Amino acid sequence: MAKAYRDPIFSSRSYERIIEPVFGRSLLQMDGKEHARKRALVTPYFRGKGLEAWHGVITRNAVAILGDATAGAAEHLASRFEPGQTIDIVEEFCNYLPVFVITEMLGLPRSDYPRFKGWYTAHTNFVGAFGSDPEIDRIGRAATAELWEYLTPIIAERRANPASDLISTLVTAEVDGEMFDDIEVKTHITQLLNAGSETTGKALASMIALVLERREYFEEMRQDRSKVTAAISEALRYIPPSQMNSRQVTEDVELHGQFIPAGSLVVLLIASANRDERRFDHADVFDPRRTDLDHEKVFNNTGEHFAFGGGRHFCLGAMLARSEIEVGMNLLMDRFPNMRVAEGFTPSWTGVKARYQPKLLLTL
Ligand code: HEM
Repeated sequence: MAKAYRDPIFSSRSYERIIEPVFGRSLLQMDGKEHARKRALVTPYFRGKGLEAWHGVITRNAVAILGDATAGAAEHLASRFEPGQTIDIVEEFCNYLPVFVITEMLGLPRSDYPRFKGWYTAHTNFVGAFGSDPEIDRIGRAATAELWEYLTPIIAERRANPASDLISTLVTAEVDGEMFDDIEVKTHITQLLNAGSETTGKALASMIALVLERREYFEEMRQDRSKVTAAISEALRYIPPSQMNSRQVTEDVELHGQFIPAGSLVVLLIASANRDERRFDHADVFDPRRTDLDHEKVFNNTGEHFAFGGGRHFCLGAMLARSEIEVGMNLLMDRFPNMRVAEGFTPSWTGVKARYQPKLLLTL
């Protein structure tokens, strides 16, 4: 698996068919120098000091959703977050947090949440359908057309009056004397909105269900917050929200004794590699106490497990996702130490390309 992520023979040009129609030509399908240069432009926002600067944004948005602030789309939810109330944490918290964070990073109004959600859901469905359903195809392409129309005046405004948000950075950035044109900026935004929203919310919800199903893990983590990282990394191993990536081989190649002819489409099954019994003890068990996984390294492209992919396309937002899940989980544990899965409800997961719980009923 690591070889397939790292070896340029396994090219991501497979995404020309699967993703380009709705994202445009994004980082995901670029190679070599072009990829390195364009990725370097946005990287500072997602690592180290650049990322630390967003910590306040994450906390503020998490608190806002739970009802301390009264603004934007979260307003109607405020009264529902009371100890003893039963709520669907997926719909009412996990889905909101990453979208609010990425939209604030981009400098977009979070009151447009319902529109963002509609657009990125249409894109996720498109990517997951692999071109098999004309209606999903049509809705995905229509979502891009609408989103890009929505972005046109915003980009023009940022070109005229750049501020400190990510869109302003993209419109003012110069790579080797070249600037991004509007289409490239729109592509970046589309990718960030989608990649930054769907997966993180699903990962947070999975982790909540997994630690509540084995309450001792929840209690252990609530009392010693240094254990949160291990629970996040193990939840991502056990149920990676993005279960597979694809590649196209550019030359004949052999992998694990298997001949793969040039031009073949290869599916990298993250979900399977993450439970490789040659790599992990009791691989099919969720165990945040496991010692055969270096939890810190998971967020750093070292191939500990593959929830964030690997090689040059390793997830740009891995550290941001970690912060969001950490902040979200800590806040929930502070506010609702007695939270539990609602009586009569059993957590369950669905989906092949993306793996998630459609609903998770909790009593707070
Ligand atoms: C738990 C949450 C997340 C998971 C599981 C996840 C998973 C992944 C995976 C598996 C890839 C590799 C795709 C491939 O090689 O084909 C990837 C790439 C990427 N992710 Fe994430 N992601 C998450 C959160 C985020 C966030 C929060 C952002 C940004 C706001 C983000 C932005 C990206 C970008 C831009 C790429 C493409 C990087 C490149 O091609 O160089 N992701 N992600």
